[in-house]
Amino acid sequence: ALPSMLVAAVSYLLGSISFSILFTKLFYSRKDIRTLGSGNAGLTNVLRCVGVKAGILTFVFDFSKGAASVLVGRAVFQQLCLQYRLPEYFIQYGAYLAGIACVVGHIYPLYFHFRGGKGVLASAAIIAFLDWRYFLIAVSIFAVVFTFTRIVSISSVCGALSFPLINFLFSYFRDCRPGAAPLSYVWITTAFSMLFAGLLVYKHRANLERLKNGTEKRFSIKHS
Ligand code: G3P
Repeated sequence: ALPSMLVAAVSYLLGSISFSILFTKLFYSRKDIRTLGSGNAGLTNVLRCVGVKAGILTFVFDFSKGAASVLVGRAVFQQLCLQYRLPEYFIQYGAYLAGIACVVGHIYPLYFHFRGGKGVLASAAIIAFLDWRYFLIAVSIFAVVFTFTRIVSISSVCGALSFPLINFLFSYFRDCRPGAAPLSYVWITTAFSMLFAGLLVYKHRANLERLKNGTEKRFSIKHS
Protein backbone atom coordinates (compact mmCIF):
# COMPACT_ATOMS: atom_id res chain seq x y z
CA ALA A 1 0.00 0.00 0.00
CA LEU A 2 2.77 2.46 0.84
CA PRO A 3 4.52 2.24 -2.56
CA SER A 4 1.15 2.70 -4.29
CA MET A 5 0.50 5.81 -2.25
CA LEU A 6 3.95 7.09 -3.07
CA VAL A 7 3.40 6.53 -6.80
CA ALA A 8 0.02 8.28 -6.63
CA ALA A 9 1.42 11.22 -4.64
CA VAL A 10 4.45 11.77 -6.88
CA SER A 11 2.33 11.54 -10.02
CA TYR A 12 -0.30 13.88 -8.60
CA LEU A 13 2.37 16.46 -7.75
CA LEU A 14 3.91 16.07 -11.20
CA GLY A 15 0.52 16.41 -12.87
CA SER A 16 -0.17 19.52 -10.82
CA ILE A 17 2.55 21.44 -12.67
CA SER A 18 0.37 23.21 -15.19
CA PHE A 19 2.68 24.16 -18.02
CA SER A 20 0.00 26.03 -19.95
CA ILE A 21 -0.35 28.41 -16.99
CA LEU A 22 3.41 28.77 -16.57
CA PHE A 23 4.24 29.33 -20.26
CA THR A 24 1.34 31.74 -20.73
CA LYS A 25 2.63 33.81 -17.81
CA LEU A 26 6.08 33.75 -19.38
CA PHE A 27 5.07 34.59 -22.95
CA TYR A 28 2.03 36.79 -22.43
CA SER A 29 2.99 39.48 -19.92
CA ARG A 30 2.13 37.42 -16.84
CA LYS A 31 -1.49 36.83 -17.94
CA ASP A 32 -3.43 33.83 -16.55
CA ILE A 33 -4.55 31.47 -19.35
CA ARG A 34 -7.66 30.76 -17.27
CA THR A 35 -8.87 34.32 -17.93
CA LEU A 36 -8.39 34.03 -21.70
CA GLY A 37 -10.41 32.36 -24.48
CA SER A 38 -12.26 29.28 -23.26
CA GLY A 39 -10.69 29.76 -19.81
CA ASN A 40 -9.11 26.34 -20.03
CA ALA A 41 -5.55 25.71 -18.93
CA GLY A 42 -4.64 23.53 -21.87
CA LEU A 43 -2.79 23.37 -25.16
CA THR A 44 -5.79 24.24 -27.36
CA ASN A 45 -6.39 27.45 -25.46
CA VAL A 46 -2.69 28.36 -25.39
CA LEU A 47 -2.54 28.03 -29.20
CA ARG A 48 -5.79 29.99 -29.47
CA CYS A 49 -4.83 32.88 -27.19
CA VAL A 50 -1.06 32.96 -26.70
CA GLY A 51 0.72 31.56 -29.73
CA VAL A 52 2.81 28.83 -31.29
CA LYS A 53 5.93 29.14 -29.13
CA ALA A 54 4.06 28.79 -25.84
CA GLY A 55 2.00 26.05 -27.49
CA ILE A 56 5.01 23.98 -28.47
CA LEU A 57 6.50 24.30 -24.98
CA THR A 58 3.18 23.39 -23.34
CA PHE A 59 2.91 20.39 -25.63
CA VAL A 60 6.41 19.14 -24.87
CA PHE A 61 6.24 19.63 -21.11
CA ASP A 62 2.64 18.48 -20.50
CA PHE A 63 3.29 15.43 -22.65
CA SER A 64 6.53 14.70 -20.80
CA LYS A 65 4.96 14.90 -17.37
CA GLY A 66 2.35 12.31 -18.39
CA ALA A 67 5.07 10.07 -19.77
CA ALA A 68 7.29 10.56 -16.73
CA SER A 69 4.53 9.62 -14.31
CA VAL A 70 3.86 6.34 -16.13
CA LEU A 71 7.56 5.52 -16.11
CA VAL A 72 7.78 6.25 -12.37
CA GLY A 73 4.74 4.06 -11.66
CA ARG A 74 6.13 1.25 -13.73
CA ALA A 75 9.59 1.45 -12.13
CA VAL A 76 8.22 1.32 -8.58
CA PHE A 77 5.88 -1.58 -9.34
CA GLN A 78 8.69 -3.41 -11.11
CA GLN A 79 10.67 -3.30 -7.89
CA LEU A 80 7.62 -4.59 -5.99
CA CYS A 81 7.30 -7.47 -8.42
CA LEU A 82 10.92 -8.42 -7.95
CA GLN A 83 10.77 -8.11 -4.20
CA TYR A 84 7.54 -10.03 -3.66
CA ARG A 85 7.75 -12.30 -6.72
CA LEU A 86 4.54 -10.92 -8.16
CA PRO A 87 3.48 -11.71 -11.73
CA GLU A 88 4.67 -9.38 -14.46
CA TYR A 89 1.26 -7.99 -15.43
CA PHE A 90 1.19 -6.33 -11.98
CA ILE A 91 3.73 -3.75 -13.22
CA GLN A 92 1.09 -2.30 -15.51
CA TYR A 93 -1.13 -1.48 -12.52
CA GLY A 94 1.58 0.92 -11.35
CA ALA A 95 1.50 2.60 -14.75
CA TYR A 96 -2.30 3.03 -14.69
CA LEU A 97 -2.30 4.27 -11.10
CA ALA A 98 0.42 6.83 -11.83
CA GLY A 99 -1.39 7.90 -14.99
CA ILE A 100 -4.71 8.56 -13.33
CA ALA A 101 -3.03 10.42 -10.44
CA CYS A 102 -1.17 12.59 -12.94
CA VAL A 103 -4.37 13.47 -14.81
CA VAL A 104 -6.14 14.29 -11.54
CA GLY A 105 -3.19 16.57 -10.73
CA HIS A 106 -3.43 18.19 -14.14
CA ILE A 107 -7.16 18.81 -13.79
CA TYR A 108 -7.08 19.78 -10.09
CA PRO A 109 -3.56 21.16 -9.58
CA LEU A 110 -2.32 21.66 -6.05
CA TYR A 111 -0.23 24.71 -6.96
CA PHE A 112 -2.90 26.57 -8.96
CA HIS A 113 -5.96 26.64 -6.70
CA PHE A 114 -7.14 23.27 -8.06
CA ARG A 115 -8.16 24.86 -11.36
CA GLY A 116 -6.28 23.19 -14.19
CA GLY A 117 -7.00 21.81 -17.65
CA LYS A 118 -9.12 19.06 -19.12
CA GLY A 119 -6.41 16.42 -19.17
CA VAL A 120 -6.48 15.60 -22.88
CA LEU A 121 -2.80 15.98 -23.70
CA ALA A 122 -1.64 14.48 -20.40
CA SER A 123 -3.93 11.49 -20.99
CA ALA A 124 -2.65 11.11 -24.55
CA ALA A 125 0.92 10.93 -23.26
CA ILE A 126 -0.10 8.45 -20.58
CA ILE A 127 -1.93 6.21 -23.05
CA ALA A 128 1.08 6.35 -25.37
CA PHE A 129 3.28 5.04 -22.57
CA LEU A 130 0.72 2.53 -21.32
CA ASP A 131 0.57 0.93 -24.75
CA TRP A 132 1.54 2.68 -27.99
CA ARG A 133 -1.08 0.69 -29.92
CA TYR A 134 -3.89 2.12 -27.77
CA PHE A 135 -2.46 5.56 -28.44
CA LEU A 136 -2.31 5.09 -32.21
CA ILE A 137 -5.95 4.01 -32.36
CA ALA A 138 -7.25 6.74 -30.01
CA VAL A 139 -5.23 9.43 -31.81
CA SER A 140 -6.49 8.20 -35.18
CA ILE A 141 -10.06 8.56 -33.94
CA PHE A 142 -9.23 12.05 -32.67
CA ALA A 143 -7.67 12.89 -36.05
CA VAL A 144 -10.63 11.64 -38.09
CA VAL A 145 -13.16 13.61 -36.02
CA PHE A 146 -10.92 16.66 -36.09
CA THR A 147 -10.50 16.47 -39.86
CA PHE A 148 -14.27 16.64 -40.28
CA THR A 149 -15.14 19.11 -37.52
CA ARG A 150 -12.00 21.22 -36.88
CA ILE A 151 -13.16 21.27 -33.25
CA VAL A 152 -10.73 19.98 -30.63
CA SER A 153 -13.23 19.33 -27.84
CA ILE A 154 -15.48 16.87 -29.71
CA SER A 155 -12.39 15.14 -31.14
CA SER A 156 -11.00 14.80 -27.60
CA VAL A 157 -14.27 13.41 -26.27
CA CYS A 158 -14.42 10.80 -29.06
CA GLY A 159 -10.78 9.84 -28.51
CA ALA A 160 -11.38 9.59 -24.76
CA LEU A 161 -14.48 7.42 -25.17
CA SER A 162 -12.62 5.04 -27.46
CA PHE A 163 -9.98 4.32 -24.82
CA PRO A 164 -12.01 1.98 -22.55
CA LEU A 165 -13.18 0.02 -25.59
CA ILE A 166 -9.65 -0.32 -26.97
CA ASN A 167 -8.36 -1.22 -23.52
CA PHE A 168 -11.03 -3.88 -23.07
CA LEU A 169 -10.53 -5.46 -26.48
CA PHE A 170 -6.74 -5.65 -26.26
CA SER A 171 -6.59 -6.81 -22.65
CA TYR A 172 -9.29 -9.41 -23.21
CA PHE A 173 -8.20 -10.81 -26.58
CA ARG A 174 -4.44 -10.26 -26.38
CA ASP A 175 -3.32 -10.25 -22.74
CA CYS A 176 -5.83 -12.48 -20.98
CA ARG A 177 -4.41 -15.99 -21.34
CA PRO A 178 -2.69 -18.52 -19.09
CA GLY A 179 0.82 -17.43 -18.21
CA ALA A 180 0.11 -13.83 -19.18
CA ALA A 181 -2.73 -12.09 -17.33
CA PRO A 182 -5.93 -13.23 -15.57
CA LEU A 183 -9.44 -11.97 -16.26
CA SER A 184 -9.19 -9.62 -13.27
CA TYR A 185 -6.48 -7.75 -15.22
CA VAL A 186 -9.02 -7.05 -17.95
CA TRP A 187 -11.54 -5.62 -15.50
CA ILE A 188 -9.05 -3.63 -13.46
CA THR A 189 -7.35 -1.96 -16.42
CA THR A 190 -10.69 -1.38 -18.15
CA ALA A 191 -12.01 0.23 -14.96
CA PHE A 192 -8.98 2.54 -14.94
CA SER A 193 -9.53 3.42 -18.60
CA MET A 194 -13.18 4.22 -17.85
CA LEU A 195 -12.01 6.53 -15.09
CA PHE A 196 -9.79 8.39 -17.57
CA ALA A 197 -12.61 8.68 -20.08
CA GLY A 198 -15.12 9.68 -17.39
CA LEU A 199 -12.89 12.46 -16.07
CA LEU A 200 -12.20 13.82 -19.54
CA VAL A 201 -15.83 13.80 -20.64
CA TYR A 202 -16.91 15.35 -17.33
CA LYS A 203 -14.40 18.17 -17.84
CA HIS A 204 -15.80 18.80 -21.33
CA ARG A 205 -19.37 19.36 -20.20
CA ALA A 206 -19.27 23.11 -20.98
CA ASN A 207 -17.85 22.28 -24.41
CA LEU A 208 -20.64 19.74 -25.01
CA GLU A 209 -23.18 22.39 -24.08
CA ARG A 210 -21.61 24.83 -26.55
CA LEU A 211 -21.55 22.13 -29.23
CA LYS A 212 -25.26 21.62 -28.70
CA ASN A 213 -25.89 25.34 -29.05
CA GLY A 214 -23.61 25.61 -32.05
CA THR A 215 -21.34 28.11 -30.29
CA GLU A 216 -18.24 25.97 -29.84
CA LYS A 217 -15.18 27.56 -31.46
CA ARG A 218 -13.22 25.85 -34.18
CA PHE A 219 -9.50 25.31 -33.76
CA SER A 220 -7.41 28.42 -34.32
CA ILE A 221 -3.84 29.55 -33.76
CA LYS A 222 -2.88 33.00 -32.66
CA HIS A 223 -0.08 34.41 -34.76
CA SER A 224 1.95 36.78 -32.70
O1 G3P B 1 -7.60 20.87 -24.69
C1 G3P B 1 -8.89 20.51 -24.33
C2 G3P B 1 -9.80 20.62 -25.52
O2 G3P B 1 -10.46 19.40 -25.74
C3 G3P B 1 -10.80 21.72 -25.42
O3 G3P B 1 -10.20 22.92 -25.07
O4 G3P B 1 -10.01 25.35 -24.78
O5 G3P B 1 -11.53 24.42 -26.55
O6 G3P B 1 -12.13 24.19 -24.13
P1 G3P B 1 -11.03 24.28 -25.13
